[in-house]
Amino acid sequence: MSNKFDNYGAISTVYDKINAKVDYRAWADFVEKCFEKHLHEKPELLLDLACGTGSMTLELAKRGYDMIGVDGSYDMLNIAYDRKFDLELKNDVLFLLQDMREFELYGTVGAVTCCLDSINYLTEDGDIEKCFSLVHNYLDPDGLFLFDVNTPHKFEHIYGNNSYVYEEEDCGTGNFCVWQNFYDSDSGLCDFSLTVFEREEGSELYARRDEVQTERCYNREKIEKALEDTGFELIGFYSDFEFTPAGDTDERWYIVARAKK
Ligand SMILES: C[S@@+](CC[C@H](N)C(=O)[O-])C[C@H]1O[C@@H](n2cnc3c(N)ncnc32)[C@H](O)[C@@H]1O
Repeated sequence: MSNKFDNYGAISTVYDKINAKVDYRAWADFVEKCFEKHLHEKPELLLDLACGTGSMTLELAKRGYDMIGVDGSYDMLNIAYDRKFDLELKNDVLFLLQDMREFELYGTVGAVTCCLDSINYLTEDGDIEKCFSLVHNYLDPDGLFLFDVNTPHKFEHIYGNNSYVYEEEDCGTGNFCVWQNFYDSDSGLCDFSLTVFEREEGSELYARRDEVQTERCYNREKIEKALEDTGFELIGFYSDFEFTPAGDTDERWYIVARAKK
C-alpha cells in the first residue's frame, strides 16, 4: 500500500516513559465493566488495534484474555514483544505487524480495543471507514469496539501551535524529547514535529532522531456517522472511565459501539 504507516521509529524508545502516567489498569477496568454491561458472556479472545508497545494488550492478557495486538510500527511491536516475554504469560498473545486500514485476522474476536488516540492517526479521507469496516468484519455478532480520540477542544486549545518539552527526571538517563505542533483547523490535520535526544549507554553522547507524526481531528458527528455507515450501534460517548457523558471541553472521548450483524 502506498501510504503504509510506519513513523514511530524515533519515539518508540522513549514512548513508555513519556506515557508513564497513562493508567492502563483503570482503562482495562473500564473495558471489563463494558463487557459486564453489554456482553452476554465474557469474551475469550480480544484484538488490541494499534497496540503500540503493548500496554493495554498485556494488561488484558494478565487478566486472562487471549490477545492479538496489531500495529504498523516494527519498532513499537519489538518493544511489545520483549515486554510479553518478561511477563511469562500463560495465555496466548500474538503480535502482528499490520496496517489498521487493511489488517487480516484468522477469525473473529469478542471485542476490539484501540487506545490512546490511535484512531486520530488515520488521516486520509475514508481511513476511519476502512478501519471501522474491518473491525466490524472481525467482531463476533454484538461484539464491542472500544476506542478513544483526542477531541476538537484538545486540537484547538491544547495542541494548537504549541511546543512541549519532555525531560526524563530519573537521574542518569537524561533522555530529552521536544515536539512542536502545527494545527490546521481547515484540514483538521495536526503535525507533530518530534526530536528525541537519547543518551547512549555508558557515554556522555546523545543520539538525535527526528520524525514528523500527523493526527487528524474528528468531531463527534463524523465518528457517529462512520460508525453507523460501517454497521455499528453507538453505545456511549464518555469523558472518563466513570461513564460520564462526553462534553465539549473534554480532551479525550472514550467511545463504545456494538457490531450489529
Ligand atoms: C499513540 S500510539 C498508541 C499505542 C497504544 N495503543 C498505547 O495505548 O500505548 C499510536 C499507535 O498507533 C500506531 N499506528 C498509527 N497508524 C497506524 C496504522 N495506520 N496502522 C497500524 N498502526 C498504526 C502507531 O504505530 C502507534 O503504535
